Amino acid sequence: MKTVQDHYFNKAKKEGFAARSAYKLQEIDQKHQLLKNGSQVLDLGCYPGSWMQYISKKIGSNGRVVGIDRTELRIALKENMRFIHSDIDDVDPDDPGLFAGFFDVICSDMAPNSTGIKNVDSERSFHLCQMALDIASHKLKKTGSVLLKSFHGSTFDRLVKLMRTDYQQVKIIKPKSSRDESKEVFILGNQKR
Ligand SMILES: C[S@@+](CC[C@H](N)C(=O)[O-])C[C@H]1O[C@@H](n2cnc3c(N)ncnc32)[C@H](O)[C@@H]1O
Repeated sequence: MKTVQDHYFNKAKKEGFAARSAYKLQEIDQKHQLLKNGSQVLDLGCYPGSWMQYISKKIGSNGRVVGIDRTELRIALKENMRFIHSDIDDVDPDDPGLFAGFFDVICSDMAPNSTGIKNVDSERSFHLCQMALDIASHKLKKTGSVLLKSFHGSTFDRLVKLMRTDYQQVKIIKPKSSRDESKEVFILGNQKR
């Protein structure tokens, strides 16, 4: 498994991505056609920036990607990228100074700092997903998609249930590039109810 991690680490370094996480998004995007030329995208928990780098290339100059993280981003921002330095708990989705218009895709790779206590970590991850879903309920286009990172744990079924109430189609995705031993899993919601 270390070889797989090294493979993606080296590939990211060679291809100029800030982290190997870019390949998880690439895999999901290639399979589920998430991002298009001109897409408007909100990337929650974007530091160190590899998803933003992948998205920026994919959406082109007519698209826009807005990233939010509580850690300051240090990558060079292209013209179609914007960064908001904030904790997700402090974001007001209706603040027109923060976001103008609606998004085609809202993705979240947010992860809480691990305490090592499974239930606590699971609840914290669930809270971050709830925040992302709340923003999506205000700012995602009706035909848009929401992609959330979650963890198999005590809150997983609750999260899937919540997504099924908000979205007509819900898919659970485990990218190959996500380490096998990791409990990380992605949930994709399409078509707001
Ligand atoms: C796995 S990293 C994201 C990696 C990123 N997708 C990339 O490709 O470079 C998870 C991020 O979630 C952010 N995060 C966790 N809790 C947050 C919160 N409450 N508000 C904002 N960002 C948060 C962390 O700061 C961290 O940068």
